[in-house]
Amino acid sequence: MTSQLTITRPDDWHLHLRDGAALRQTVLHSARRFARAIVMPNLRPPVTTTAEAERYRARILAALPEGLTFEPLMTLYLTDNTPPDEIRRAWASGVVHAVKYYPAGATTNSENGVTDLRACYPTLEAMAETGMPLLVHGEVTDPQVDVFDREAVFIDRILVPLLRDIEGLNVVFEHVTTREAVALVRESGRRLAATITPQHLSMNRNALFEGGLRPHHYCLPVLKREEHRRALVEAATSGDPSFFLGTDSAPHARRHKESACGCAGMFSAPAAIELYAELFEREGALERLEGFASRHGANFYGLPHNRETITLVKESWSLPRELAFGDETVVPMAAGETLSWKLKDSK
Ligand code: NCD
Ligand code: ZN
Repeated sequence: MTSQLTITRPDDWHLHLRDGAALRQTVLHSARRFARAIVMPNLRPPVTTTAEAERYRARILAALPEGLTFEPLMTLYLTDNTPPDEIRRAWASGVVHAVKYYPAGATTNSENGVTDLRACYPTLEAMAETGMPLLVHGEVTDPQVDVFDREAVFIDRILVPLLRDIEGLNVVFEHVTTREAVALVRESGRRLAATITPQHLSMNRNALFEGGLRPHHYCLPVLKREEHRRALVEAATSGDPSFFLGTDSAPHARRHKESACGCAGMFSAPAAIELYAELFEREGALERLEGFASRHGANFYGLPHNRETITLVKESWSLPRELAFGDETVVPMAAGETLSWKLKDSK
C-alpha cells in the first residue's frame, strides 16, 4: 500500500477567493496546497476590466500569509458590453489568463452576465486571435428547462454552435457534471478542455437529501445522478489531458447556506488535494493524480509546470466542523469527516 505520495505542486484551475475580510482565510487554504489558481471574477461588482483584475490580484497577494508563495491567475467577467480592445489589453497585461462566461442569472453574482452570446462574437473573435481562453459556466437559465438538464441543454443550444462559429477559440467547460459533457470534451480535440470538482467526483444527487435537506451539498451545477458521477470519475482518472483539476471552491458564510434560500457553493479548499487523492486511490489510479492535478491544466494554458512538490502521507485527520470566514464562519466540504491522506509539506 502506498503510504506517501510526492507530486509536482498542483494548480487549481477554477477557484473563488472572494474579497475583503474573507480573503486572508481563503488564500491561506489554497496557497498551502496549490502553486497557482485561476481566480474567478464573480465579485460584487464583477471584475470586468484589466485594471480591476490587477487591483484584485494585488489584494490577493497582500492577503497571502508570509512564507507562502501563490500566483493568482486572473480572469475577466464577460458582459454583453466587453469590448474587443479590453481583451487585447488583458492579454498584453500578462496578468489576465482567461475570460469567464456566465449566462446571466446562472449562478452566484451572475446578474451582469451575458444575455446573448452572439452579441459577444466580436469580443470572442479577439479572444481567438490572441489565444485567450473562454471559461464557460455551462448551464442554460431557461426556466422551462429542468435544473438537472441545464448542462446537457447548454451543450446543444450554446456550446456546440459556439465551437463551430468561433473556430480558433480555446474553451474550458468548467465544473462538468454530466456524461454528455464528458463525451463532448472527448470528441472535441485539444481546443475544448474541462475542469472537474471534488464534489462532483465524490457525490451524487442523493447527497442533497441524505437524512434531510443538506444545504452544504448544494452547489451549481447541482450534483447529478450516479451514472454521471461515474462518467466524471472515469474521465478524471483516465489520463486524458483534456480533463484537469478545478475545485470550484466557493465559500459562503454558514448563515447564507443554512437559510430559506441558501447560496450555492462548496468550500473545498481546506482539503482540496487530499479529497482528490482519496478519490484517485479508491479508483486505483493514484499514479494518474499528478497529470490531472499538476500537468494537464498548465499544458492547456501554455504555462510551465511547477518546479516545487507537495507530499501527502497516509495518516488520518479530521476536517474542522467550521472555520473562520471574515467576521463569520464557513462550513468546509467534508466538515467533521475523517480523511486518510494528509498534506505533509509543500516546497
Ligand atoms: C459559485 C459561487 O458561489 O461563486 N457557486 C457554485 O455553486 N459553484 C459560482 C459558480 O461557479 O457557479
Ligand atoms: Zn465556480
